[in-house]
Amino acid sequence: MNTILVTAATSTIGRRVVNNLKNTHSTVKAGVRSTRKAADLKGNNIKLVKFDFLEPATYPTLLEGVDKVLLIIPILADQVEIVRNFVKVAKEKKVKKIVLLSGLGADMESESDILRWHGEKEKIVRKSGIPYTILRPGNFMQNYVTGCFRKMCGNGKLTLPQGDAKINQVDADDIAMAAANVLTNFGHKDKIYNLTGYSYTNLEIADLISNITGKKIDYQDISEDDARKKMKQCEIKDWRIDTILGLQRACKEGLMEAYSMDLKDLISKSPTTFAEFALRHKHVF
Ligand SMILES: NC(=O)c1ccc[n+]([C@@H]2O[C@H](COP(=O)([O-])OP(=O)(O)OC[C@H]3O[C@@H](n4cnc5c(N)ncnc54)[C@H](OP(=O)(O)O)[C@@H]3O)[C@@H](O)[C@H]2O)c1
Repeated sequence: MNTILVTAATSTIGRRVVNNLKNTHSTVKAGVRSTRKAADLKGNNIKLVKFDFLEPATYPTLLEGVDKVLLIIPILADQVEIVRNFVKVAKEKKVKKIVLLSGLGADMESESDILRWHGEKEKIVRKSGIPYTILRPGNFMQNYVTGCFRKMCGNGKLTLPQGDAKINQVDADDIAMAAANVLTNFGHKDKIYNLTGYSYTNLEIADLISNITGKKIDYQDISEDDARKKMKQCEIKDWRIDTILGLQRACKEGLMEAYSMDLKDLISKSPTTFAEFALRHKHVF
């Protein structure tokens, strides 16, 4: 029986992957900072383990007996060094496969911190000597219904500094299904998959939400300064706001418009459209 470790198991993707792996033949170690937030991650084959990336001394115990890792790394300023340490310990513990959650547009030369960090983390994993699969999803549709992003989309307005660029939107449920496939089935060794849904401008998204909810939503392309003010209201730290704005800039420049068949092939169905997502979340908008 395989033991699969999922880091940041309470994240948007982590939570869904753990649920996909429920009642499979794998033992799942779900790494969480707080078991309180993980009450729904229950199952005979699921074991919650306390884990914080900022405590490297715990990596060896965490990785003991682990065959495969789904490496989900939150936005942390020193995430590249964290991954370097983590992968080194994984190698010592003879982990057989790493599935890295990266991002569409990952690029070591990118001006966006987040895209550059993704590129650097990918390189560490690629060069580790451990068989790997890299998943590069587009923007999670779930961003529109959670957290600060959602607050920027309230009161009949969708306010983002993304101009009229088309941005690839992908459903976290589809990403999790693809990740679970890659973790539990043969193949996928040393592959990089672009997990894309379809691309939309925010004007198109606002129209879709308006049509589905019957409530008029207007898209407003705001300045980075205004976006910063809104994020500050959500008590997001300055360095983090900078990284998010850098990513939004990349979106505005059109770097997030892409289409690949990878997701469709991995989940054996067409990716979820934004209209389907909006219909499912009609009550939230
Ligand atoms: N969001 C997107 O649209 C998108 C698109 C492409 C790629 N990605 C990538 O996906 C990854 C996850 O991002 P996300 O936005 O999905 O994350 P998220 O849902 O906001 O979740 C962040 C997770 O990280 C955990 N966490 C925070 N600090 C931690 C620490 N020090 N040690 C261990 N766990 C910690 C949180 O745990 P708690 O529950 O305890 O807070 C939570 O489970 C990132 O690498 C991101 O770049 C995201």
